[in-house]
Formats: sequence, C-alpha cells, structure tokens
Amino acid sequence: MPGRLAGKVAIVTGAGSRGPGLGNGKATAILFAREGARVLCVDQAKERAADTVELIRAESGEAEVFAANVTRAAECQAMVRAAVARWGGLDILHNNVGVESRKDLLETTEEEWDRVMTVDLKSMLLATQAAVPPMVAQGSGSIICVSSVAALRGHGRTAYAAAKAGVIGFVRSVAVQLGPRGIRVNAIAPGRVWTPMVESLGAEARERRRQSSPLGIEGTGWDVAWGAVYLASDEARWVTGQTLVIDAGLTLTTG
Ligand SMILES: NC(=O)c1ccc[n+]([C@@H]2O[C@H](COP(=O)([O-])OP(=O)(O)OC[C@H]3O[C@@H](n4cnc5c(N)ncnc54)[C@H](O)[C@@H]3O)[C@@H](O)[C@H]2O)c1
Repeated sequence: MPGRLAGKVAIVTGAGSRGPGLGNGKATAILFAREGARVLCVDQAKERAADTVELIRAESGEAEVFAANVTRAAECQAMVRAAVARWGGLDILHNNVGVESRKDLLETTEEEWDRVMTVDLKSMLLATQAAVPPMVAQGSGSIICVSSVAALRGHGRTAYAAAKAGVIGFVRSVAVQLGPRGIRVNAIAPGRVWTPMVESLGAEARERRRQSSPLGIEGTGWDVAWGAVYLASDEARWVTGQTLVIDAGLTLTTG
C-alpha cells in the first residue's frame, strides 16, 4: 500500500480497545496500516487485537494478531520474533499499553503503585529491549511511547502521574543511547481524549473534559494516532527524545 509508512513493519502494543469504540492503540494500528505499514496488533486480550485486524483487513490493509502480555520479557521477545519472522524486519514499535489509576497519594496502596508501574513503565522497558536488536541490525527504527499530560500537570492521580513522567524520562535516556544506531525514540502525551479507557467517567465528565481545553473540541484516538504516524514516518527523521503533546492546549491552562 502506498503511504507515509509504505513498506514499514510496525508493532502496536495494546492494539485493541477495552470497550466498544476506538482507543488510542486501535486508532494508531488502523492509521499505520492505512499509511502502508504492515502491523502486528498485540494485545493480551487476543479478541480485542483480532477486532482491530479485522477492521484493517476490511480496508485491504495488512495486519496480524499477536497475543502477549507486554509486562513479561519472554512475551515481548516472542512478539518481536513474530513480526520479524512474518515480514523480515521491524521499523516501528508503538508502546501504547497503559492503565490508569485515579487514586491520590494517601489512597495509593503498594499493590496499586506496583500494578501501574509495571503496566505503564516496565512494559516500555521490556518491549523496547526486545525491539532494539532487529532495528540495530538494519540501522534504523522509530520507537514511540505513550505518556500522558498527567505527567506534565499537577493533579491527584499519583501513581499514574509518576509512571507517565517516567515514560518521558525513559524516552530521553533511550533516545541518547540509540541515536547513534539510527533509532529515534519519542513520547506522545495525549490530553483528555475520549476513548473506551475513560468511558466509565460518564456523560457529565465527558462534557467537562471537552470544555477544559482552549480549543474546546473533544479529542479522539485519531488525534493521538496522527501524531504517531508523524513520529513513525521519515518526515520525523530529525526528531528524537521529544514529547509531542496532543491536548487541544490543555497544558497551557492553569485550571
Ligand atoms: N484516554 C485518555 O484520555 C488518555 C489520555 C492520556 C494517555 N492515555 C494513554 O493511552 C494509552 C491507552 O490507550 P487506549 O485508548 O488504546 O486504551 P485501551 O484501554 O482502550 O486499550 C488498551 C489495550 O491494551 C491492552 N493491554 C492492557 N494491558 C496490557 C498488557 N500488559 N499487555 C498487552 N496488552 C495490554 C488491553 O487489553 C486493551 O485492549 C495508555 O497508555 C493511556 O495511559 C489515554
């Protein structure tokens, strides 16, 4: 397929959505395929990744399902082996997996802290470690890690803020190490996009979220996915170690 990612091989982690509708990972996998990439759709819930693959194939895109829990090193290694075996290399790793915690400092138990750090931060380490060898072998690659504006603003969701700030630190550290090998590493910090992840907040919160940014427009998974397309593409060949904030201007506000 022609497009901005033509000929590239991509892995998207958390490529399914936890509910009906469109999450960030699902939208990104679909846009990557529309732009010509062959996409390994990875999710620990196989049926969710299968749903994304079905949508991609319905548009004549190329994608495969892979079931893996990206908090486990062996499963990350197997995921990368599957992409390389299927398509002969790996150009893009989109580290999308993440879970939210809405607990403040005193509410956060050790279990909650460990759960969020494992899913939101350790997964980035393990998936990136697995993806780097084939990228080093070919002398190029783009790794994208999904952070959040929660890392950049003061608020009460302690473990989530800490984990997502950790993602940005991770990206900056790894970008310096991998730049000389031709591999770019960037973060995306989405704002209050409306996805199945936040569906449980309800209609009133949905409206409040929409109104909270200067643009006053509701964000969707597509808004995040277009940023990922740019960072994954050769258009961003001179961009590494950065955090692309996609938030309708939310981080400009003080409220
Ligand atoms: N929705 C928002 O407002 C918002 C804002 C900022 C950042 N984010 C970030 O966006 C990312 C999630 O986006 P989404 O909309 O795709 O979420 P989602 O919850 O709809 O989908 C994520 C998918 O990841 C899978 N998953 C969870 N843990 C996994 C694991 N350990 N291994 C493999 N798969 C796993 C789930 O099964 C699910 O299908 C997260 O990193 C989140 O923190 C979301």
